[in-house]
Amino acid sequence: MDKLCIRGQNPLRGEVAISGSKNAAVAIIPAALLANDVVTLENVPHIADVANLVSIMRDMHVQVDYLDEHTLRIDSRNMVNDCANSEGVRKMRASYYLLGVLLGRFKHARVAFPGGCDFGVRPIDLHVKGFEALGASVTTKAIIEMKATELLGTNIFLDFASVGATINIMLAAVLAHGTTVIENAAKEPHVVDTASFLNSMGADVKGAGTDTIRIRGVRRLHGSEYAIIPDQIEAGTYMVASAVTGGDIKITNVIPRHLDSISAKLREIGIRIREEDDAIRVIGGGRLKPTKVKTLPYPGFPTDMQPQMMVLLSMVNGTSMINESVTDNRFRYVEQLQKMGANIDVEGHIAIIEGVDRLSGSEVAATDLRAGAAMVLAGLAAEGTTYVTNINYIDRGYEGMVDKLKLLGADIERTGGSDPVLRVIKDHAG
Ligand code: EPZ
Repeated sequence: MDKLCIRGQNPLRGEVAISGSKNAAVAIIPAALLANDVVTLENVPHIADVANLVSIMRDMHVQVDYLDEHTLRIDSRNMVNDCANSEGVRKMRASYYLLGVLLGRFKHARVAFPGGCDFGVRPIDLHVKGFEALGASVTTKAIIEMKATELLGTNIFLDFASVGATINIMLAAVLAHGTTVIENAAKEPHVVDTASFLNSMGADVKGAGTDTIRIRGVRRLHGSEYAIIPDQIEAGTYMVASAVTGGDIKITNVIPRHLDSISAKLREIGIRIREEDDAIRVIGGGRLKPTKVKTLPYPGFPTDMQPQMMVLLSMVNGTSMINESVTDNRFRYVEQLQKMGANIDVEGHIAIIEGVDRLSGSEVAATDLRAGAAMVLAGLAAEGTTYVTNINYIDRGYEGMVDKLKLLGADIERTGGSDPVLRVIKDHAG
Protein backbone atom coordinates (compact mmCIF):
# COMPACT_ATOMS: atom_id res chain seq x y z
CA MET A 1 0.00 0.00 0.00
CA ASP A 2 1.23 3.53 -0.79
CA LYS A 3 2.50 5.69 2.01
CA LEU A 4 3.91 9.19 2.45
CA CYS A 5 7.40 10.04 3.74
CA ILE A 6 7.63 13.56 5.18
CA ARG A 7 10.75 15.28 6.53
CA GLY A 8 9.38 18.04 8.72
CA GLN A 9 10.09 21.63 9.75
CA ASN A 10 10.24 23.29 6.32
CA PRO A 11 8.22 26.50 6.53
CA LEU A 12 5.73 26.33 3.63
CA ARG A 13 5.81 29.37 1.36
CA GLY A 14 4.22 30.34 -1.94
CA GLU A 15 0.81 29.93 -3.60
CA VAL A 16 -1.59 27.00 -3.76
CA ALA A 17 -4.81 26.79 -5.81
CA ILE A 18 -7.82 25.09 -4.23
CA SER A 19 -9.76 22.46 -6.19
CA GLY A 20 -13.50 22.02 -6.52
CA SER A 21 -15.43 21.06 -3.39
CA LYS A 22 -15.56 17.32 -2.72
CA ASN A 23 -18.77 17.59 -0.71
CA ALA A 24 -20.45 19.66 -3.39
CA ALA A 25 -19.23 17.38 -6.20
CA VAL A 26 -20.45 14.14 -4.57
CA ALA A 27 -23.94 15.67 -4.35
CA ILE A 28 -24.06 17.52 -7.67
CA ILE A 29 -22.73 14.65 -9.82
CA PRO A 30 -25.60 12.27 -8.86
CA ALA A 31 -28.03 15.22 -8.91
CA ALA A 32 -27.32 15.52 -12.65
CA LEU A 33 -29.26 12.25 -13.07
CA LEU A 34 -32.48 14.08 -12.16
CA ALA A 35 -32.51 15.62 -15.66
CA ASN A 36 -33.14 13.13 -18.46
CA ASP A 37 -30.65 15.17 -20.46
CA VAL A 38 -26.97 16.13 -20.79
CA VAL A 39 -25.17 18.01 -17.98
CA THR A 40 -21.65 19.46 -18.06
CA LEU A 41 -19.88 20.04 -14.74
CA GLU A 42 -16.72 22.16 -14.41
CA ASN A 43 -14.18 22.53 -11.57
CA VAL A 44 -14.82 18.92 -10.56
CA PRO A 45 -12.07 17.84 -8.13
CA HIS A 46 -9.75 15.08 -9.38
CA ILE A 47 -10.25 12.79 -6.35
CA ALA A 48 -11.04 9.15 -5.71
CA ASP A 49 -14.59 9.78 -4.44
CA VAL A 50 -15.47 11.41 -7.78
CA ALA A 51 -13.82 8.57 -9.74
CA ASN A 52 -15.83 6.09 -7.67
CA LEU A 53 -19.10 7.94 -8.32
CA VAL A 54 -18.32 8.04 -12.05
CA SER A 55 -17.81 4.28 -11.98
CA ILE A 56 -21.10 3.68 -10.14
CA MET A 57 -22.95 5.78 -12.72
CA ARG A 58 -21.26 4.06 -15.67
CA ASP A 59 -22.41 0.74 -14.18
CA MET A 60 -25.92 2.21 -14.41
CA HIS A 61 -25.36 2.85 -18.14
CA VAL A 62 -24.97 6.60 -17.64
CA GLN A 63 -22.63 8.02 -20.30
CA VAL A 64 -19.95 9.88 -18.29
CA ASP A 65 -17.00 11.45 -20.14
CA TYR A 66 -14.05 13.41 -18.79
CA LEU A 67 -13.81 16.37 -21.21
CA ASP A 68 -10.66 17.23 -19.23
CA GLU A 69 -9.32 16.36 -15.78
CA HIS A 70 -11.84 18.70 -14.12
CA THR A 71 -14.82 18.67 -16.52
CA LEU A 72 -17.47 15.92 -16.71
CA ARG A 73 -20.15 15.43 -19.36
CA ILE A 74 -23.03 13.35 -17.96
CA ASP A 75 -25.74 11.91 -20.26
CA SER A 76 -28.36 9.92 -18.35
CA ARG A 77 -30.90 9.48 -21.19
CA ASN A 78 -30.29 5.71 -21.36
CA MET A 79 -29.59 4.94 -17.72
CA VAL A 80 -30.94 1.92 -15.83
CA ASN A 81 -32.30 2.39 -12.34
CA ASP A 82 -30.42 -0.10 -10.20
CA CYS A 83 -27.29 0.06 -8.03
CA ALA A 84 -28.32 -2.48 -5.45
CA ASN A 85 -25.16 -4.55 -5.89
CA SER A 86 -22.70 -1.76 -6.46
CA GLU A 87 -19.36 -2.26 -4.75
CA GLY A 88 -18.70 1.43 -5.28
CA VAL A 89 -21.74 2.42 -3.24
CA ARG A 90 -20.35 0.54 -0.26
CA LYS A 91 -17.11 2.53 -0.47
CA MET A 92 -18.46 5.97 0.29
CA ARG A 93 -21.16 7.50 2.45
CA ALA A 94 -22.10 10.12 -0.15
CA SER A 95 -23.49 7.42 -2.43
CA TYR A 96 -26.60 7.85 -0.29
CA TYR A 97 -27.47 10.78 -2.62
CA LEU A 98 -28.43 8.15 -5.22
CA LEU A 99 -31.41 7.39 -2.96
CA GLY A 100 -32.86 10.88 -3.33
CA VAL A 101 -32.03 11.08 -7.04
CA LEU A 102 -33.48 7.70 -8.05
CA LEU A 103 -36.59 8.21 -5.92
CA GLY A 104 -37.02 11.70 -7.35
CA ARG A 105 -36.64 10.65 -10.98
CA PHE A 106 -38.09 7.11 -11.05
CA LYS A 107 -40.17 7.01 -7.83
CA HIS A 108 -38.23 3.81 -7.14
CA ALA A 109 -34.72 3.25 -5.76
CA ARG A 110 -32.68 0.14 -4.96
CA VAL A 111 -29.32 1.12 -3.45
CA ALA A 112 -26.71 -0.82 -1.47
CA PHE A 113 -25.98 0.49 2.01
CA PRO A 114 -23.51 3.39 1.82
CA GLY A 115 -20.04 2.99 3.34
CA GLY A 116 -17.48 5.69 4.10
CA CYS A 117 -15.21 6.99 6.85
CA ASP A 118 -15.56 5.09 10.09
CA PHE A 119 -15.90 7.54 12.93
CA GLY A 120 -18.74 6.22 14.97
CA VAL A 121 -22.31 5.47 14.12
CA ARG A 122 -23.47 7.43 11.07
CA PRO A 123 -27.15 6.58 10.56
CA ILE A 124 -29.35 7.89 7.75
CA ASP A 125 -32.57 7.88 9.75
CA LEU A 126 -33.20 11.58 8.98
CA HIS A 127 -32.88 10.90 5.26
CA VAL A 128 -35.43 8.06 5.51
CA LYS A 129 -37.76 10.26 7.60
CA GLY A 130 -37.72 12.81 4.79
CA PHE A 131 -38.38 10.28 2.04
CA GLU A 132 -41.28 8.74 3.98
CA ALA A 133 -42.74 12.20 4.59
CA LEU A 134 -42.74 12.72 0.80
CA GLY A 135 -44.77 9.51 0.39
CA ALA A 136 -42.15 6.80 -0.16
CA SER A 137 -42.29 3.35 1.43
CA VAL A 138 -38.77 2.42 2.55
CA THR A 139 -37.40 -1.04 3.37
CA THR A 140 -33.83 -1.40 4.69
CA LYS A 141 -32.75 -5.03 4.62
CA ALA A 142 -29.77 -6.21 2.54
CA ILE A 143 -30.24 -3.07 0.48
CA ILE A 144 -32.26 0.11 0.80
CA GLU A 145 -35.37 0.01 -1.41
CA MET A 146 -37.86 2.83 -1.77
CA LYS A 147 -41.07 3.10 -3.79
CA ALA A 148 -43.73 5.78 -4.22
CA THR A 149 -46.75 6.01 -6.52
CA GLU A 150 -46.07 9.73 -6.44
CA LEU A 151 -44.12 12.16 -4.27
CA LEU A 152 -46.16 14.89 -2.59
CA GLY A 153 -44.60 18.08 -1.23
CA THR A 154 -44.74 18.32 2.57
CA ASN A 155 -43.19 20.05 5.60
CA ILE A 156 -40.18 18.31 7.18
CA PHE A 157 -38.49 19.38 10.43
CA LEU A 158 -34.99 17.91 10.78
CA ASP A 159 -34.09 16.86 14.34
CA PHE A 160 -30.49 17.84 13.48
CA ALA A 161 -29.26 20.20 10.74
CA SER A 162 -27.95 17.21 8.80
CA VAL A 163 -26.01 18.06 5.61
CA GLY A 164 -26.79 14.75 3.93
CA ALA A 165 -30.46 14.68 4.90
CA THR A 166 -30.99 18.30 3.79
CA ILE A 167 -29.46 17.64 0.37
CA ASN A 168 -31.10 14.24 -0.09
CA ILE A 169 -34.58 15.58 0.67
CA MET A 170 -33.99 18.45 -1.78
CA LEU A 171 -33.01 15.90 -4.45
CA ALA A 172 -36.20 13.88 -3.93
CA ALA A 173 -38.46 16.94 -3.69
CA VAL A 174 -37.54 18.93 -6.82
CA LEU A 175 -39.77 16.73 -9.03
CA ALA A 176 -42.51 16.10 -6.43
CA HIS A 177 -46.06 17.46 -6.74
CA GLY A 178 -46.44 20.59 -4.64
CA THR A 179 -44.16 22.40 -2.22
CA THR A 180 -41.74 20.91 0.32
CA VAL A 181 -40.41 22.97 3.22
CA ILE A 182 -37.31 21.76 5.10
CA GLU A 183 -37.03 23.33 8.58
CA ASN A 184 -33.77 23.28 10.57
CA ALA A 185 -31.94 22.73 7.27
CA ALA A 186 -28.14 22.54 7.04
CA LYS A 187 -26.53 25.74 5.67
CA GLU A 188 -23.10 24.46 4.51
CA PRO A 189 -21.67 25.95 1.27
CA HIS A 190 -22.15 22.60 -0.48
CA VAL A 191 -25.84 22.62 0.43
CA VAL A 192 -26.18 26.02 -1.22
CA ASP A 193 -24.13 24.92 -4.23
CA THR A 194 -26.34 21.86 -4.76
CA ALA A 195 -29.47 24.04 -4.60
CA SER A 196 -27.93 26.46 -7.12
CA PHE A 197 -27.12 23.57 -9.43
CA LEU A 198 -30.68 22.20 -9.18
CA ASN A 199 -32.04 25.65 -10.05
CA SER A 200 -29.67 25.78 -13.06
CA MET A 201 -31.54 22.67 -14.30
CA GLY A 202 -34.92 24.39 -13.88
CA ALA A 203 -35.76 23.46 -10.30
CA ASP A 204 -37.40 25.97 -7.94
CA VAL A 205 -35.42 25.89 -4.67
CA LYS A 206 -35.37 28.96 -2.42
CA GLY A 207 -33.81 29.67 0.98
CA ALA A 208 -30.73 27.42 0.71
CA GLY A 209 -28.19 28.78 3.19
CA THR A 210 -30.90 29.59 5.71
CA ASP A 211 -32.69 27.40 8.29
CA THR A 212 -35.68 27.02 5.96
CA ILE A 213 -35.52 25.73 2.39
CA ARG A 214 -38.64 25.79 0.19
CA ILE A 215 -38.80 23.55 -2.86
CA ARG A 216 -41.64 23.95 -5.36
CA GLY A 217 -41.85 20.73 -7.39
CA VAL A 218 -41.57 21.07 -11.19
CA ARG A 219 -42.55 18.62 -13.94
CA ARG A 220 -39.10 18.04 -15.34
CA LEU A 221 -35.52 19.31 -15.27
CA HIS A 222 -33.30 20.11 -18.25
CA GLY A 223 -29.56 19.87 -18.87
CA SER A 224 -27.16 22.49 -17.59
CA GLU A 225 -23.55 23.68 -17.55
CA TYR A 226 -22.34 24.34 -14.01
CA ALA A 227 -19.09 25.05 -12.15
CA ILE A 228 -18.63 23.63 -8.66
CA ILE A 229 -17.52 25.91 -5.79
CA PRO A 230 -14.01 25.69 -4.29
CA ASP A 231 -13.45 23.28 -1.41
CA GLN A 232 -13.86 24.99 1.98
CA ILE A 233 -12.12 22.18 3.89
CA GLU A 234 -9.20 21.78 1.50
CA ALA A 235 -8.63 25.54 1.85
CA GLY A 236 -8.83 25.32 5.64
CA THR A 237 -6.34 22.46 5.62
CA TYR A 238 -3.75 24.56 3.76
CA MET A 239 -4.43 27.49 6.12
CA VAL A 240 -3.46 25.24 9.03
CA ALA A 241 -0.47 23.91 7.03
CA SER A 242 0.92 27.46 6.99
CA ALA A 243 0.19 27.89 10.70
CA VAL A 244 1.86 24.64 11.84
CA THR A 245 5.02 25.20 9.75
CA GLY A 246 5.40 28.91 10.51
CA GLY A 247 4.97 29.54 6.81
CA ASP A 248 3.47 32.18 4.52
CA ILE A 249 0.99 30.78 1.99
CA LYS A 250 -1.37 32.55 -0.41
CA ILE A 251 -4.33 30.21 -0.97
CA THR A 252 -6.10 31.04 -4.24
CA ASN A 253 -9.46 30.07 -5.80
CA VAL A 254 -11.34 30.33 -2.49
CA ILE A 255 -14.53 32.06 -1.29
CA PRO A 256 -13.19 33.79 1.86
CA ARG A 257 -16.57 34.05 3.61
CA HIS A 258 -16.83 30.23 3.53
CA LEU A 259 -13.69 30.23 5.69
CA ASP A 260 -14.85 32.82 8.27
CA SER A 261 -15.06 30.45 11.26
CA ILE A 262 -11.61 28.99 10.45
CA SER A 263 -10.04 32.44 9.96
CA ALA A 264 -11.60 33.71 13.20
CA LYS A 265 -10.22 30.79 15.23
CA LEU A 266 -6.74 31.06 13.69
CA ARG A 267 -6.65 34.82 14.34
CA GLU A 268 -7.69 34.16 17.96
CA ILE A 269 -4.62 31.92 18.30
CA GLY A 270 -2.37 34.63 16.82
CA ILE A 271 -2.08 33.60 13.15
CA ARG A 272 -2.05 36.55 10.69
CA ILE A 273 -4.64 36.33 7.92
CA ARG A 274 -5.20 38.69 4.99
CA GLU A 275 -8.25 38.28 2.72
CA GLU A 276 -8.55 39.21 -0.96
CA ASP A 277 -11.53 38.69 -3.35
CA ASP A 278 -10.80 35.04 -4.15
CA ALA A 279 -7.68 34.38 -2.10
CA ILE A 280 -6.52 34.29 1.49
CA ARG A 281 -2.97 34.72 2.80
CA VAL A 282 -2.01 32.94 6.02
CA ILE A 283 1.21 33.81 7.85
CA GLY A 284 2.33 31.47 10.64
CA GLY A 285 5.02 31.88 13.27
CA GLY A 286 5.13 34.15 16.30
CA ARG A 287 3.85 33.44 19.79
CA LEU A 288 0.55 31.54 19.67
CA LYS A 289 -2.14 31.35 22.34
CA PRO A 290 -4.18 28.32 23.43
CA THR A 291 -7.93 28.38 22.75
CA LYS A 292 -11.19 26.47 22.87
CA VAL A 293 -12.88 25.04 19.78
CA LYS A 294 -16.43 23.70 19.52
CA THR A 295 -17.44 22.09 16.21
CA LEU A 296 -20.88 23.14 14.96
CA PRO A 297 -22.95 23.04 11.80
CA TYR A 298 -22.15 25.89 9.37
CA PRO A 299 -21.43 28.76 9.90
CA GLY A 300 -19.84 27.34 13.06
CA PHE A 301 -16.39 25.74 13.14
CA PRO A 302 -16.51 22.70 10.80
CA THR A 303 -16.12 19.21 12.24
CA ASP A 304 -14.09 18.40 9.09
CA MET A 305 -11.42 20.83 10.35
CA GLN A 306 -11.29 19.39 13.87
CA PRO A 307 -8.30 17.01 13.37
CA GLN A 308 -6.28 19.69 11.59
CA MET A 309 -6.90 22.19 14.42
CA MET A 310 -5.92 19.51 16.95
CA VAL A 311 -2.48 19.26 15.33
CA LEU A 312 -1.96 23.01 15.57
CA LEU A 313 -3.14 23.23 19.19
CA SER A 314 -0.94 20.28 20.18
CA MET A 315 2.05 22.59 19.62
CA VAL A 316 0.62 25.77 21.22
CA ASN A 317 1.99 26.37 24.70
CA GLY A 318 -0.76 26.15 27.34
CA THR A 319 -4.03 24.24 27.70
CA SER A 320 -6.55 24.11 24.82
CA MET A 321 -9.83 22.25 24.44
CA ILE A 322 -11.80 20.81 21.53
CA ASN A 323 -15.47 19.89 21.88
CA GLU A 324 -16.58 17.66 18.97
CA SER A 325 -20.31 18.31 19.15
CA VAL A 326 -21.31 17.27 15.60
CA THR A 327 -19.93 13.79 15.03
CA ASP A 328 -19.82 10.73 17.22
CA ASN A 329 -16.36 9.36 18.10
CA ARG A 330 -14.18 11.55 15.87
CA PHE A 331 -11.03 11.38 18.03
CA ARG A 332 -9.77 7.94 16.90
CA TYR A 333 -6.75 9.60 15.26
CA VAL A 334 -5.54 11.12 18.57
CA GLU A 335 -3.56 7.98 19.50
CA GLN A 336 -1.59 8.44 16.26
CA LEU A 337 -0.73 12.01 17.28
CA GLN A 338 0.26 10.77 20.74
CA LYS A 339 2.86 8.55 19.03
CA MET A 340 4.43 11.82 17.80
CA GLY A 341 4.55 13.25 21.31
CA ALA A 342 1.26 15.14 21.51
CA ASN A 343 -0.15 15.49 25.03
CA ILE A 344 -3.92 15.06 24.57
CA ASP A 345 -6.53 13.65 26.95
CA VAL A 346 -9.85 12.55 25.41
CA GLU A 347 -13.02 12.17 27.52
CA GLY A 348 -16.02 11.42 25.30
CA HIS A 349 -16.66 14.43 23.04
CA ILE A 350 -14.02 16.58 24.79
CA ALA A 351 -10.26 16.66 24.14
CA ILE A 352 -7.92 18.55 26.49
CA ILE A 353 -4.63 19.47 24.84
CA GLU A 354 -1.44 20.43 26.72
CA GLY A 355 0.80 22.09 24.13
CA VAL A 356 4.28 20.61 23.62
CA ASP A 357 7.32 22.38 22.15
CA ARG A 358 7.41 20.12 19.12
CA LEU A 359 6.16 16.83 17.65
CA SER A 360 8.59 14.07 16.66
CA GLY A 361 8.45 12.08 13.44
CA SER A 362 6.94 8.58 13.63
CA GLU A 363 5.00 6.05 11.54
CA VAL A 364 1.31 6.94 11.81
CA ALA A 365 -1.85 5.75 10.05
CA ALA A 366 -4.67 7.75 8.53
CA THR A 367 -7.84 6.60 10.30
CA ASP A 368 -10.16 8.58 8.00
CA LEU A 369 -9.98 11.30 5.35
CA ARG A 370 -9.54 14.40 7.51
CA ALA A 371 -7.47 12.56 10.11
CA GLY A 372 -5.17 11.54 7.26
CA ALA A 373 -4.75 15.19 6.26
CA ALA A 374 -4.03 16.01 9.91
CA MET A 375 -1.27 13.36 10.03
CA VAL A 376 0.34 15.05 7.03
CA LEU A 377 0.19 18.42 8.82
CA ALA A 378 1.77 16.83 11.89
CA GLY A 379 4.57 15.39 9.74
CA LEU A 380 5.17 18.77 8.10
CA ALA A 381 5.61 20.34 11.55
CA ALA A 382 7.47 17.51 13.31
CA GLU A 383 11.18 17.14 13.92
CA GLY A 384 12.55 14.23 11.89
CA THR A 385 10.77 11.94 9.45
CA THR A 386 7.11 10.89 9.52
CA TYR A 387 5.56 8.04 7.53
CA VAL A 388 1.81 8.18 6.91
CA THR A 389 0.05 4.93 5.90
CA ASN A 390 -3.52 4.23 4.71
CA ILE A 391 -3.26 7.30 2.49
CA ASN A 392 -6.03 5.97 0.24
CA TYR A 393 -8.24 7.94 2.64
CA ILE A 394 -6.46 11.16 1.65
CA ASP A 395 -6.85 10.38 -2.06
CA ARG A 396 -10.61 10.35 -1.52
CA GLY A 397 -10.80 14.07 -0.82
CA TYR A 398 -7.57 15.94 -1.57
CA GLU A 399 -6.55 16.55 -5.18
CA GLY A 400 -2.79 16.33 -5.77
CA MET A 401 -1.88 16.95 -2.14
CA VAL A 402 1.73 15.78 -2.50
CA ASP A 403 2.37 17.95 -5.58
CA LYS A 404 0.70 20.99 -4.00
CA LEU A 405 2.76 20.61 -0.82
CA LYS A 406 6.01 20.09 -2.79
CA LEU A 407 5.36 23.35 -4.65
CA LEU A 408 5.11 25.04 -1.24
CA GLY A 409 8.52 23.66 -0.22
CA ALA A 410 7.53 20.55 1.71
CA ASP A 411 9.97 17.63 1.75
CA ILE A 412 7.40 14.93 0.98
CA GLU A 413 7.43 11.79 -1.16
CA ARG A 414 4.80 9.17 -2.01
CA THR A 415 5.78 5.54 -2.47
CA GLY A 416 3.89 3.78 -5.22
CA GLY A 417 4.40 6.73 -7.56
CA SER A 418 1.46 6.83 -9.98
CA ASP A 419 -1.50 9.18 -9.69
CA PRO A 420 -3.81 7.33 -7.26
CA VAL A 421 -6.98 8.77 -8.77
CA LEU A 422 -6.01 7.78 -12.30
CA ARG A 423 -5.49 4.28 -10.93
CA VAL A 424 -9.04 4.33 -9.56
CA ILE A 425 -10.40 5.62 -12.86
CA LYS A 426 -8.45 2.98 -14.83
CA ASP A 427 -9.55 0.24 -12.40
CA HIS A 428 -13.15 1.26 -12.90
CA ALA A 429 -12.89 2.04 -16.59
CA GLY A 430 -11.77 -1.55 -17.13
C1 EPZ B 1 -21.42 15.43 5.63
O1 EPZ B 1 -21.62 14.14 6.17
C2 EPZ B 1 -20.01 15.42 5.07
N1 EPZ B 1 -19.93 14.42 4.02
C3 EPZ B 1 -19.01 15.11 6.18
O2 EPZ B 1 -17.72 15.30 5.61
C4 EPZ B 1 -19.16 16.12 7.31
O3 EPZ B 1 -18.36 15.70 8.38
C5 EPZ B 1 -20.62 16.20 7.77
O4 EPZ B 1 -21.47 16.46 6.64
C6 EPZ B 1 -20.84 17.33 8.78
O5 EPZ B 1 -20.48 18.55 8.20
C7 EPZ B 1 -20.41 14.76 2.80
O6 EPZ B 1 -20.90 15.86 2.58
C8 EPZ B 1 -20.29 13.71 1.74
P1 EPZ B 1 -24.55 15.03 8.69
P2 EPZ B 1 -23.10 13.69 6.64
O7 EPZ B 1 -25.72 14.36 8.11
O8 EPZ B 1 -24.08 14.06 5.59
C9 EPZ B 1 -25.86 12.44 12.38
C10 EPZ B 1 -15.58 14.72 4.90
O9 EPZ B 1 -14.53 14.50 5.51
N2 EPZ B 1 -26.93 11.99 11.49
O10 EPZ B 1 -24.54 16.52 8.83
O11 EPZ B 1 -23.04 12.31 7.11
C11 EPZ B 1 -24.51 11.87 11.93
O12 EPZ B 1 -24.31 10.59 12.47
C12 EPZ B 1 -16.87 14.15 5.41
O13 EPZ B 1 -15.66 15.43 3.87
C13 EPZ B 1 -27.95 11.21 12.02
O14 EPZ B 1 -27.96 10.89 13.20
O15 EPZ B 1 -23.24 14.64 7.90
C14 EPZ B 1 -23.53 12.87 12.45
O16 EPZ B 1 -23.24 12.58 13.80
C15 EPZ B 1 -16.67 13.34 6.69
N3 EPZ B 1 -28.92 10.77 11.19
C16 EPZ B 1 -24.28 14.20 12.39
O17 EPZ B 1 -25.68 13.86 12.28
C17 EPZ B 1 -28.95 11.08 9.86
O18 EPZ B 1 -29.89 10.66 9.15
C18 EPZ B 1 -23.87 15.03 11.19
O19 EPZ B 1 -24.25 14.32 10.08
C19 EPZ B 1 -27.91 11.88 9.34
C20 EPZ B 1 -26.92 12.34 10.17
